Amino acid sequence: MKALSIIPSQKTILLTEREDPQIQGPYEVKVKTLEVGICGTDREEIMGTHAELPLGEKELIIGHEMMALVIETGSNVSTIKPGDLVVATVRRPCDHPECYSCKGGHPDTCSSGLYLERGIKGLHGFQAQFVVDHEMFFVKLPQSMRSYGVLCEPAAIVEKAIDSAIEIQSCRGLPDWDDPSTCLRGKKTLVAGLGSIGLLTAIILRLHGADVWGYDIVSQDALRIQLFKEIGGSYIDGKKITPSNIASHYESFDLIVEAVGVASVTINLISALGPNGICAMTGVTEANRMLEINVGSLIYNLVLNNQVIFGTVNAGKKHWKRAVRDLEKANTVFNRIAERLITHRFSPHEFQRAFFESSEDEIKKVFVWGE
Ligand code: BGC
Repeated sequence: MKALSIIPSQKTILLTEREDPQIQGPYEVKVKTLEVGICGTDREEIMGTHAELPLGEKELIIGHEMMALVIETGSNVSTIKPGDLVVATVRRPCDHPECYSCKGGHPDTCSSGLYLERGIKGLHGFQAQFVVDHEMFFVKLPQSMRSYGVLCEPAAIVEKAIDSAIEIQSCRGLPDWDDPSTCLRGKKTLVAGLGSIGLLTAIILRLHGADVWGYDIVSQDALRIQLFKEIGGSYIDGKKITPSNIASHYESFDLIVEAVGVASVTINLISALGPNGICAMTGVTEANRMLEINVGSLIYNLVLNNQVIFGTVNAGKKHWKRAVRDLEKANTVFNRIAERLITHRFSPHEFQRAFFESSEDEIKKVFVWGE
């Protein structure tokens, strides 16, 4: 089969020929890949950071945002069958005896750090014609999601961020966050970074009835801003307003979701958080970024305003299922919005163009591996 592999030490990506993976256990499932998305993590991996090779191998097949068709199932597989449309989760559990998250089936909160991630950390990914994995790592999609199901991975990350914020707020007894099905209605929320994660966040927040402001540095005419406004978002132009000045123009926010991944922006967003506010950070920033900031005022505000800042990564099955539900709903409610987030489709042969050329109008780019 064909696959897109990287050699991190050489900062190289290649379209390679490899053996097809085969079903080896009774609970395994073989799928034919249909589409696989590209994200910032893939680009970092190609540039030699973030990626970890599978044990004893020289190359890593990248890709972690996939959608596929089931073509073969092991003898004990009971939840999916050939012909089903599926997506696969990314993280695989560690076997550390004291990692209760992984033992309990929640590798997204692995505490040992020994988890593996397909296409990122120690396991081959999905940018390949065929994939085999245990049935427990697949989530079934309705066939109607064929044209945008590839968005489930980033959408699951967003679902986890929003759900965690609601859980934290309600657990600490804030009465206006008590009912998860209504608590976001009319809440003032800010999404920083309107790439695919940011737009999906805005879409899901709007489905919940939140008022959403979005912060980015692209022009008002960029497709992402048009789509953002179409779902009812209000754009804050980062070319005119710095992150630390947002509050002086727009007052403070109940919830901030950061999807920028730039340390200097992220840290300054916190100043836009209101009393009892909560800020979810999803962007993986560059490590070792030194900055001069007013720590005194940051801590002063955190304490005197009962604020919460938390980081969130990856997602478990519960949030993948919500992603499926909400993407389908959003696509209906907001005039095919999920489909329109996929702006570019490439053949795997076009990998140079797909990874290294960019335009202001791109949102999500995907590789098409099969029909
Ligand atoms: C992926 C996550 C992954 C994280 C850290 C992100 O790009 O979407 O699934 O856990 O990178 O490797």
